[in-house]
Amino acid sequence: MREMNMQSSTERQWVVMKFGGTSVSSAERWATIAGQVRHQRDNDRNVLVVVSALSGITDLLTRLADAHEQASRDALLEEIHQRHRQLLSDLKLTTCPDFEQRWQELCALAASTALPAAAEQKAALLAYGELLSSTLGAATLNQAGMDTVWQDAREMLHASAAPNLNPLSVRCDDNADPQLSARLAEQGRAHITQGFIVRGPDGQTCLLGRGGSDTSAALLAARLQASLLQIWTDVPGMFSADPRVVPDARLLQNLGYREAQELASMGAKVLHPPSIQPARRHGITVFIKDTSRPQAAGTCITAGDREAEAQVKGVVSRKGITLINMETAAMWHQAGFLGDAFMVFKRHGFSVDLVSTSESTVSVTLDPEASTQTDAARMQAFLDELATLCRVDVRSNCVSISLVGNAIRTILGRLSAALDVFQDRHVHMVTQSANDLNLTLVVDAEHAESLVRKLHQLLISSQADGRLEFGPSWHELNRDAKAPSASAAWWKYQSASLVDLLGPRDCAYVYHLPTVQQAARRLRRLQSIDRVLYSVKANDHPDILRALAAEGLGFECVSLNEVNHVLAEVEGIQPADILFTPNFAPQEEYQQALGLGVRVTVDNSWVLHQWPDCFAGREVFLRLDLEKGHGHHRKVITSGKSSKFGIALEDLDELATLLADRNIRVTGLHAHTGSGVDDAEVWGQQLQRILSVLPRFPEVRVIDLGGGLGIPERPGQPDFNLQRMDEVLLQELKQHPVKLWLEPGRYLVAESGVLLARVTQLKDKGQYHYVGVATGMNSLIRPALYGAFHEIVNLNRLQDEAKINCRIVGPICESGDVLGESRLMPRCQAGDVILVANTGAYGRVMASHYNRRIPAEELLLDA
Ligand code: LLP
Repeated sequence: MREMNMQSSTERQWVVMKFGGTSVSSAERWATIAGQVRHQRDNDRNVLVVVSALSGITDLLTRLADAHEQASRDALLEEIHQRHRQLLSDLKLTTCPDFEQRWQELCALAASTALPAAAEQKAALLAYGELLSSTLGAATLNQAGMDTVWQDAREMLHASAAPNLNPLSVRCDDNADPQLSARLAEQGRAHITQGFIVRGPDGQTCLLGRGGSDTSAALLAARLQASLLQIWTDVPGMFSADPRVVPDARLLQNLGYREAQELASMGAKVLHPPSIQPARRHGITVFIKDTSRPQAAGTCITAGDREAEAQVKGVVSRKGITLINMETAAMWHQAGFLGDAFMVFKRHGFSVDLVSTSESTVSVTLDPEASTQTDAARMQAFLDELATLCRVDVRSNCVSISLVGNAIRTILGRLSAALDVFQDRHVHMVTQSANDLNLTLVVDAEHAESLVRKLHQLLISSQADGRLEFGPSWHELNRDAKAPSASAAWWKYQSASLVDLLGPRDCAYVYHLPTVQQAARRLRRLQSIDRVLYSVKANDHPDILRALAAEGLGFECVSLNEVNHVLAEVEGIQPADILFTPNFAPQEEYQQALGLGVRVTVDNSWVLHQWPDCFAGREVFLRLDLEKGHGHHRKVITSGKSSKFGIALEDLDELATLLADRNIRVTGLHAHTGSGVDDAEVWGQQLQRILSVLPRFPEVRVIDLGGGLGIPERPGQPDFNLQRMDEVLLQELKQHPVKLWLEPGRYLVAESGVLLARVTQLKDKGQYHYVGVATGMNSLIRPALYGAFHEIVNLNRLQDEAKINCRIVGPICESGDVLGESRLMPRCQAGDVILVANTGAYGRVMASHYNRRIPAEELLLDA
């Protein structure tokens, strides 16, 4: 029956599968390739496999072509041979006559080629990377019973004629070629050919340039009118940022052609940009797949982006950008300046990338790939000619950061808060693309990575949960591949004790005291810091307060109740060990705190003016607003014009008179820029600013740099770089005789706490699989309030594969009562214990009795 349903060879749909260098370099990967070819054939499709050279071989061939001596050429040939022989032996291909024949051809060509090779011969030599890998591949697939026909790509792809054709980088048209598909279909069901190489107008071998194998595959898919183009590579797909910079970058599961093209062009390296156009023109679905995980979903690229909702899909950056500013009064109302200037770019072969203009200045960037290949003399000649038209200013080694997504102009409002991250960075240029797909900023290289991380956090991590186009994060996909961060995850080794401790309860917070102690000791070891206070607001559990006092820490309190709580619970504590840092508190609180002998921080000159009896003749700390705020969310940024905290630096003159009049002595300066800051440099900048106003306060002995130290929110994120903070502070401090204090909350307690909650119910509805747990935003409001991420696991099923995409919700009557969106979990059952990690800070202290539900009680583990 099956035979009767089979289509005739010419009617069958084509699938083109391209495998990159790492995907063709091991026997294990070739087994995957054979499996994929079999799968397509079993689905009654014709298959064309397009391969790159083995990884590293194109570089060796390039060196071989460029070599000036025969001896180096021989050594390189030997190395290339060795690599292929090893793979042949791994593939158990003891004899492979086709490979031997091709190898001899390469040796003969290398022997007859001038030292170094001219462009045309170089192209012919480089082509052997793919010629050899495809020959070896054909033998392998045939050995696996795939009946695969080796095809010469030069018979299928022909370079378009062009003046001054560069054989190393040609172009081909992507028109459909029905004869080609008929010819191939007649020869067989499975074929293999080379990426990268095509035939030139005179029959010579030409190359498609960098990343050419992706382009070959796309062109061949277009010519064959394939239904599917699969690009097999060594990563699971396209991500919302470079995962090396942002480990919680999300897999982009569905993209439109235009978005994919834009991401690739603006810096995402997975796909070579020219490979999208042929697929887009012919409506061919493109899949990016991972050869090491063939079952994983990958990225699917189709035409579907037009109606899609506007959303930033990626934060991508490109290094090595050269920025050129051209300034002249002559362009004011003058036709033709741009034409003349761009002719100079053309004459010298420089491709312009981004452009922005004003009445008298035009800024452009050069295509980074073009500029890396540029020698200094060529660049100078170009700039000299440009200087005849205008004043030229060049800035090299910049980085462009692009926010990429559909209809980006319609969501400028949403972007504005995120763009705050650029406030203290010099932005050299801002452009929005004419196709409405990107907003790009050009900045200095040194800040680029931290900016990308912050933008990703604000625009993607905090918004992606629950959106189907965003898949799991890079880290989730590689959960086992990376070591957990040094200080985290005590609970991974205590799952049985935790379940025991929970007992019959349906939810509880559990705090692990050793984790608190270790964090305190790390801070106490800092050389730059003289005193560490614990910010009680993060977690006021008496045992935690006592443990920290025993480690030698003082306390920072924000209300009189916190002050009294510390005095009541921590035996032996002295009022002088407490710093009271209120904000808009009533007068009585200041009065009583001062009466108790507690140090007080004032963050508003109004209180000094209005309540003279309270402060006259006293010592105080002043809390300054250093103008630049930082933090994991805008609601926790506590400096800057729009924050309610601190005394503005511009008000210091007026304040000086007031202080003198009332005989108030300022002995400490205080600043806290925000909470959950992961960039250690911030503390150096903060200290620098305080030191700049220090001469106004001769009696100051203490500078309190506040808290705010971040912790790794998501698994795999690096720990806060304490050592770096120490270095920058020591550097700034140098000879100043002041003492530095720190008053962190989160850093000391966040990782020590977990919230346990039993699964109550399960539900499948719409696109979601819900896991309901016994407590929600009444115990932990951070996800609802800030979109905060807390890792969530099922303590009863830690060993099971986490493969179900779940939304973990609480019982509170609000749609926002979600503890975790889009989390990969094992299949959960009612009664299982779910653990929400890193909830030791701002967990229970922010809980409520909303819906008259009692928030999770607090339990302790002391070992
Ligand atoms: N010092 C002052 C003056 C503060 O205002 C704060 C926190 C700290 C120290 C301690 O900051 P930490 O080291 O914990 O970042 N509920 C938010 C955090 C609000 C922090 C308010 N001030 C959250 O859950 O992220």
